[in-house]
Amino acid sequence: MEKSDSTFNKDNARDRSATREVVHVSHGQRATDGDGVKLTRIIGTPELSMIDPFLLLDAFESDNPDDYIGGFPNHPHRGFETVTYLLAGQMRHRDSAGNEGVIKPGGVQWMTAGRGIVHSEMPEQVDGLLMGFQLWVNLPASAKMSEPGYQEFPAEQVALEQWPSGSTIRVIAGRTNAGTDGAVNNDFVTPLYMDVQLKAGDDFDQSIPPTHNAFLYHVDGDVSIGQAQTGLGARTLAVLGEGDGVWAHANKDSRFILIAGQPLNEPVARGGPFVMNTQAELRQAFDDFQNNRF
Ligand code: CO
Repeated sequence: MEKSDSTFNKDNARDRSATREVVHVSHGQRATDGDGVKLTRIIGTPELSMIDPFLLLDAFESDNPDDYIGGFPNHPHRGFETVTYLLAGQMRHRDSAGNEGVIKPGGVQWMTAGRGIVHSEMPEQVDGLLMGFQLWVNLPASAKMSEPGYQEFPAEQVALEQWPSGSTIRVIAGRTNAGTDGAVNNDFVTPLYMDVQLKAGDDFDQSIPPTHNAFLYHVDGDVSIGQAQTGLGARTLAVLGEGDGVWAHANKDSRFILIAGQPLNEPVARGGPFVMNTQAELRQAFDDFQNNRF
């Protein structure tokens, strides 16, 4: 499996005896959200309600403006974080605190809704491909009512690890085995979020704390995961089981995102755009929003 023309990832290869294996595969389900935006809900479905601390993962991908042009007009959030990462296209966000910006391919917005924010997320384009992900990361009870905050990084500020083979890793959060650090900080769940593009034949070895939950969403190509060499087709979610890391082998040029985080192991009460610990807190969230207390 080792590549002969590059010692780079060989040097960083882990002992693979405890590598995580694929324990569940899902293709998600088609959904519509915001103002008629067609997307694929990958996490947050009846089949896969959450992967603690991750509450939701949406993938949007279309070159038909009718599928996305309505965007996500003003809506509230409380109690968790939203992470928007774009592969193609542009999205403009505005919020009730006066923040505004445009997310472009390779750029990320990590928004801590905390006690509450009202924002809009609108495509900044009238044609062409829009492709990206929105991930919801839960906050612990102690931080659900914290002040809202942002960590926003344009593509040029997102660490890019380049291998001699041409493979690349965009590191949004966490540290690669070669020591490339992501820009986003989150002490609650110490997340790992990487956009991995492998050249055919390359191996990707990444340590993941054994306490973390982890999954991989295969965007395109042909990869095999773990000692079992579980093959994944395009647009497939693979939930990873227990172990100390992940090993992916690219059978052809492939791209996937790898996400992991420390589970919170707290009760989850979710209602639309609010995620709290109890039903009473959920009712309070709706009441606060309706009475302009956000
Ligand atoms: Co939102």
